[in-house]
Amino acid sequence: MLTLAAAVWAGLVRIGWVLPTTGGLAASHGPLMVSGFLGTLIGLERAVALAALGRRWAYIAPALSALGALASLLGLSVGPLLLTLGSIALIAVFVEIIRRQPVAFTYTMTVGVVLWAVGNVLWLAGWPIFRVVWWWAGYLILTIAGERLELARLTRFTREALTAFFAIVGLYGVGLLLLSFTPLTDIGTRVVGAACLLLAIWLLRYDLARKTIRQPGLTRFIAQNLLLGYVWLVVSGLLTLAWGQQAAGLRYDAMLHTLFLGFVFGMIFGHAPVIFPAVLGRPLNYSPVFYGHMVILHVALLLRVIGDVAGRQDLRQWGGMLNGVALLIFLIVMAASLRRSQVRLAR
Ligand code: HEM
Repeated sequence: MLTLAAAVWAGLVRIGWVLPTTGGLAASHGPLMVSGFLGTLIGLERAVALAALGRRWAYIAPALSALGALASLLGLSVGPLLLTLGSIALIAVFVEIIRRQPVAFTYTMTVGVVLWAVGNVLWLAGWPIFRVVWWWAGYLILTIAGERLELARLTRFTREALTAFFAIVGLYGVGLLLLSFTPLTDIGTRVVGAACLLLAIWLLRYDLARKTIRQPGLTRFIAQNLLLGYVWLVVSGLLTLAWGQQAAGLRYDAMLHTLFLGFVFGMIFGHAPVIFPAVLGRPLNYSPVFYGHMVILHVALLLRVIGDVAGRQDLRQWGGMLNGVALLIFLIVMAASLRRSQVRLAR
């Protein structure tokens, strides 16, 4: 949570707010978000499950990521190395998971972690972030897609649906290879965008959320978050397909944050009432208050993207600020709900 707060702060500095900051904080915004916060959270989620089966060593992966984030925050040069080691350790965790459950969703998530680790190794080797960011994005996209496959196990996909899914994952991989290891970086980035677009259409077509949105309460809340997230993935895919490789600036901002805030955080907001209790071992009661941070996040992102496209720095900057506010309210609401549920349980 500290890493997320610091990463948001760094993002606000990057978007133009004049705030107190340390030398390298703004530059560590991306790594802190992707590897520091999300890397630790995803690693923890897996470690909790494996530790319950006697594999406590699985905690090494999130511990390394968390230490890497802390070191980066303190400006220590060992930060990127620790974050990279954390991602490599998570591959070991997934090898164990595949050994126990060699199925489509575990393979998908494992490919995601491998992409994250490759991206980190390239970054450690000195590649600039705009060249490794699609490797990191692949990690988050495949982790989420894998989780959706896992949840949909009971409905069973048709052979055609699964074939289409893995073809899209393959297309993403081709894009990554083109943009990283050939002179066709622009085309490679557009291929990655096309794969994101196709994946979003696939998710909109096959995800259970289309059915569960008709149910009340938490189930409906989760489904709404997921569907909104898929729509943002459509937008991100279209922008990336249209604009190709960008190294910085307004287009870069819109392509990345429709994906990271709209899709990834849309998913996190939806899944948090399920993930936090699993990771922390405490119950969490759903409340309609959860709609507050959800609405702010998406409206703010819309404002920001309009600002990016229209070249309106004021809209972009306020959109970014409200994105940060949404993430802060999210943290506060989750902590308060966990506490309330705990107190209720103690009575
Ligand atoms: C409050 C929310 C956020 C704000 C205000 C923010 C702001 C920014 C800004 C201004 C940039 C630079 C864009 C440019 O070159 O003009 C950036 C880059 C980036 N952001 Fe964010 N961001 C936020 C959330 C996120 C999230 C949630 C993630 C990931 C999960 C993320 C990952 C990245 C990455 C990977 C980069 C590229 C970094 C680089 O090239 O150095 N951001 N962000």
